Amino acid sequence: MIKVKNLRKEYDNIIAVDGVSFEVKKGEIFSLLGPNGAGKTTTIKSILGLINYDGEIEIDGKNMKEREKEIKKLVGYLPERVAFYDNLTAFQTLQFFAELKGVEDKIDELLKEVGLEKDVNRKVSGFSKGMLQRLGFAQCLLGNPKLLILDEPTTGLDAVGAYELRNKVKELNKKGVTILFSSHILSEVQELSHRVAIMNKGKIVAIDTVENLSKKLEIQPKLRVELQQSSPYIINVIKGIKSVKDIKVDKNILEITCPASAKLSIINTIENEGGKIVDFKTIEPTLEEVFMKVVKENE
Ligand SMILES: Nc1ncnc2c1ncn2[C@@H]1O[C@H](COP(=O)(O)OP(=O)(O)O)[C@@H](O)[C@H]1O
Ligand SMILES: [Mg+2]
Repeated sequence: MIKVKNLRKEYDNIIAVDGVSFEVKKGEIFSLLGPNGAGKTTTIKSILGLINYDGEIEIDGKNMKEREKEIKKLVGYLPERVAFYDNLTAFQTLQFFAELKGVEDKIDELLKEVGLEKDVNRKVSGFSKGMLQRLGFAQCLLGNPKLLILDEPTTGLDAVGAYELRNKVKELNKKGVTILFSSHILSEVQELSHRVAIMNKGKIVAIDTVENLSKKLEIQPKLRVELQQSSPYIINVIKGIKSVKDIKVDKNILEITCPASAKLSIINTIENEGGKIVDFKTIEPTLEEVFMKVVKENE
């Protein structure tokens, strides 16, 4: 759906994006994850043809620079900072954008979908940041685009708003909409995306599924075991198991870092040595661990 090849963008003396390449497949939720200043917004603005850039970008097999108008109808875009005309109501705002885009939509329904049904005829000058963000989301859904590009979509939303937006994104994706979004919030990226590109200082430092990134970086899952009663003896026994890489003890709860294949034998050993297991579960590596390791390795 999106192909980006050797994208480069320089502002004055700052290299904002430095040779970035990636592809977003049809039907995928793909995220750009990185700290502030990593180059996410610049990448997104280039894809949308809002700024000049070096490199090649294609959307749905079309060259961006040649067929901009056509592509813009296909894409819904939620900018990092939404800005609307203060004098217009929510309804008029969407009407205005629908005309710009050349689409006809049921605007009342769209406003209801984003939770602004009570504010249809209110002027946007009185809107909170969260309400503006909701209106921005409605705006980008105009014309049922096949591709959504969302720049930090949950910024400014409260917990409920963010939750609703994530659900909406999942729902749209199930209906076949391809989604590219940027975020600096690891949990959000982890929850939503099929694949993630980790950006830092204008470069993509890693690109893969969360699972594969964890595997590649040898970040291992942890086995969390709750014992009826922990003891120095049991902890020593566990430490002595060859496949155990690390163990953290918090009262009766042990967090054991080990390969997935060793889990069962560790549990057996604990029981054989007289440990009573109350509960156990596997904790998969978090994106945060992946992120920290990737960024460190690339600095
Ligand atoms: N219009 C601009 N003029 C000058 N520098 C810019 C401009 N936009 C972005 N930058 C710089 O480019 C870098 C990347 O910014 P940006 O793409 O906004 O990152 P992100 O979205 O990941 O926070 C930053 O160093 C930022 O200061
Ligand atoms: Mg940004």
